[in-house]
Amino acid sequence: MSQDMNTKPTMTRKQAAKAVGHKCLVSRRNFLIGAGVTTTIMITLDPGTPQAQQVPAQITEYPRKFITKLSSLKQDEPFDFSYPDEGEYSDNMIVKMGAQGGGGIGPDKDVVAFNYACTHQGGSLFDSYKADTKSMGACPLHLSTYDLTRHGILISGQAYQSLPQILLELEGDDIYATGIFGLIYGRKNNLQG
Ligand code: FES
Repeated sequence: MSQDMNTKPTMTRKQAAKAVGHKCLVSRRNFLIGAGVTTTIMITLDPGTPQAQQVPAQITEYPRKFITKLSSLKQDEPFDFSYPDEGEYSDNMIVKMGAQGGGGIGPDKDVVAFNYACTHQGGSLFDSYKADTKSMGACPLHLSTYDLTRHGILISGQAYQSLPQILLELEGDDIYATGIFGLIYGRKNNLQG
């Protein structure tokens, strides 16, 4: 659930940008506290001019969601989950490929997760994982195929964007989703709900 809070003192644009950048460097504890929170800060537009004014700016962060246990994953058997919400095109799968993948986690860096919606026109890639090529597809609509070892880059087909990759974090045996690399089909903002 989201909540708003004001951060004081007020900041200039430059300071606000710097503050946003610092959020990437916060401790795990602070990140846990901030996950899923919409923070409102005040920024000053055109500082030092007669037109200077303070306006609110919102920073929305991805939720941190438990997905499954690393030890429960069987090689080449995808596990489905929704993220970052339960809305349209939020279906994803996580898979232990048995081959290292970009962004992969685990001892062999072979556990990756991707969204199921084809970036071309939203065709469902459900149940299209191919163990032999570590790919997803071909999309049932226009045959796009994506390489899961290389951040979901397009191998062939009509799409021109990579498949959105779910960013994963491993804590002990627990796997968490913490963000998304790429834009989910049908959304202007991955967090639009
Ligand atoms: S919708 Fe998947 S290739 Fe067109």
